[in-house]
Amino acid sequence: MTAITQSVDLDRRGRVAVLTVNNPPVNALSQHVRQGLRDGVKQAIADAGVGAIVITCAGRTFIAGADITEFGKPPREPGLHEVLELIEGSPKPVVAAVHGTALGGGLEVTLACHYRVGVKDARFGLPEVKLGLLPGAGGTQRLPRVVGVDKALQMMVSGDPIRADEALKHGLIDEIVEGELTAAGVAFAEKVLKDNRPLRKIRDLTEKVTAARGKPEVFAEFRKSVARQTRGFRAPENIIKAVEAAVNLPFDAGIKRERELFAELLTSPESKAQRYFFFAEREAAKIPDVPGDTPAKDIKKAAVIGAGTMGGGIAMNFANAGIPVTVVEVAKDALDRGLGIVRKNYEATASRGRLTMADVEKRMGLITGTTDFDAIKDADIVIEAVFEEMPIKKEVFAKLDGIAKPDAVLATNTSTLDVNEIASATKRTESVIGMHFFSPANAIATAMTVGRRIAKVPVLVGVCYGFVGNRMLHQRGLQAEKLILEGALPHQVDKVLTNFGFPMGPFAMGDLAGLDVGWRIRKGRGTKSPVADRICELGRFGQKTGLGYFKYEKGDRTPIPDPEVEKIIVDVATDQGITRRHITDEEILQRLLYPMVNEGAKILDEKVAIRASDIDVIWVYGYGWPVYRGGPMFWADQIGLKAVRDKMAELQKATGDAFWTPAPLLKRLADEGKGFTSS
Ligand code: 3HC
Ligand code: NAI
Repeated sequence: MTAITQSVDLDRRGRVAVLTVNNPPVNALSQHVRQGLRDGVKQAIADAGVGAIVITCAGRTFIAGADITEFGKPPREPGLHEVLELIEGSPKPVVAAVHGTALGGGLEVTLACHYRVGVKDARFGLPEVKLGLLPGAGGTQRLPRVVGVDKALQMMVSGDPIRADEALKHGLIDEIVEGELTAAGVAFAEKVLKDNRPLRKIRDLTEKVTAARGKPEVFAEFRKSVARQTRGFRAPENIIKAVEAAVNLPFDAGIKRERELFAELLTSPESKAQRYFFFAEREAAKIPDVPGDTPAKDIKKAAVIGAGTMGGGIAMNFANAGIPVTVVEVAKDALDRGLGIVRKNYEATASRGRLTMADVEKRMGLITGTTDFDAIKDADIVIEAVFEEMPIKKEVFAKLDGIAKPDAVLATNTSTLDVNEIASATKRTESVIGMHFFSPANAIATAMTVGRRIAKVPVLVGVCYGFVGNRMLHQRGLQAEKLILEGALPHQVDKVLTNFGFPMGPFAMGDLAGLDVGWRIRKGRGTKSPVADRICELGRFGQKTGLGYFKYEKGDRTPIPDPEVEKIIVDVATDQGITRRHITDEEILQRLLYPMVNEGAKILDEKVAIRASDIDVIWVYGYGWPVYRGGPMFWADQIGLKAVRDKMAELQKATGDAFWTPAPLLKRLADEGKGFTSS
């Protein structure tokens, strides 16, 4: 075995040369990997004793793509294109032998090879779109030539990988192999040599792309079919353009077009935000004081208390991950109603073809409903989702304390209540999730692990009113309410946010969630929100009553502006002596989002969030902040914190409202010329 570079070895198995990439953790195509591949292939070509070459990887996966940390830095030789041209032009057959995931530049390496084999669990994909990019090393040109235009578009625009059996079906791989992978790759290469198979260069294949040649309607139709899910993103359109080039231009001209389209994306603000977010999401898993190897409890059984909106949904997440879950309710009818909704949700998914009825039954079979609290006694984790009232929560936790296993994790799903106070109802505060009282590492590690197992992106935050997400949302809500009194209308306010990239604005969101919820909380607390209160007094609770801030046609969720609401708004404004005026979209955006950024700064100062990027992860995953704008804190950094602070100060001066006082951290970073997510 010869080390070509620190991450690539060359070995000989008879007349087959084996190049093994070993660049943990995911064999990304760092400079030394590219150089190792290039020099290794050159050596193997030069070696008269070598008949064929196998490229494979050590560790947990095949090459998972370009090294994302190298983006934005000066390029270093050799470029990936050069390496791939060398592989494809090799006079000796090159076989890629894949395990784990061949992603992005990794899949592009395999597409430059003459043959591809993979183990049964291998997955193949071009996820560049998720980083706001397109496959920039020939992927947009080669993939359609192998799997056809439709499949290639679908794979590259979704970014989702496909399994080995599907890859085989579409001709992306030549064989699914068993046993030790290197040996299987070598055996396949031997077969190629023995049968004297041709050097199959994908660049020369045309069969699967000619059908779409000169047919712009193929692409127009595809654009239409993905318009909703790709709104606001820049990469999908460039991917489609690149595939059009693959269909209509000779290979080398197509590669040139791909390069141009790639370069455009690489410098785009959308890609910058999405690459930032890729690392932000992974960073969120890292908790200071909780080392990565902290043992997390293996969750074999879960329990959920309450089968309402949240309880039912949480139980589904466990069932989806194959974990049996017991759902406890106070009364039989509430339980039946809750589980009935769970079943209806599953059946709706099945009716859209995304689950089979057998899956529905299997998942329902993992959910056991009961009114007997004793049923939680063997659960490894209990998640409480009962009414948002402290005395009820405390009563439930006191009960759980008496029944749950000593080492069970007790979690509360509360939106706003003090977790420490809830925990005080138990004699095992250290098992209740919350940070202020030194919740021990394994409770946190278990909660984070179970979160990932049920396909969530967990983010650890401290205890405060509304935690991170709702606390910031509240600031936005206060301004939304003010804006409509001063002159904007709900649909204008909402439109500014949907144009920004949110799936909906604050008023449509209120209608969806139910306006009665906030009304009850306000009544309980003795606070008022004049417009919302009047709307509720008319029995307009949002979508569920067909009327809220907007009106709704039966069976349709499209919000329609309602003159009746406009009248309420104008009346309240008159009562309060407010002269309504025209408000620009820019003012709306700043007044809705800057207070969120300011609140985020306070949250960071109070150490309720560990880092600014965690806040961004919460907003992108939890509240529909468009990922191509990174998250509120990253977005503020792009504007420049000085500009944000100055605008806040200007509004404070103009209104005399302390609401606009810039948070100390915002002020300090602005003075120092720094950002929240960068220094
Ligand atoms: N470059 C640099 N670092 C990478 C990386 C990459 N392409 N992919 C993953 N990493 C790092 C992660 O940041 C993480 O680092 P950390 O441990 O310090 O946090 C570590 O590798 C492990 O990653 P995960 O925690 O995500 O590990 P998983 O096992 O959960 O997932 C994976 C593995 C499926 C490979 C996942 O990491 C992934 O999806 N990676 C990105 C793949 C991708 O987008 N590739 C395309 C790159 S763009 C490209 O190739 C352009 C080309 O067309 C020219
Ligand atoms: P919900 O009112 O839909 O459901 C609560 C359920 O708990 C009801 O079915 C009720 O019968 C049951 N329940 C009440 N007391 C109980 C007891 N002692 N034992 C067992 N079951 C009991 O409420 P929802 O919306 O599901 O909220 C639950 C919790 O989740 C609250 O703390 C809420 O703040 C929080 N939450 C709610 C979100 C939402 O969007 N609805 C989002 C995130 C958190």
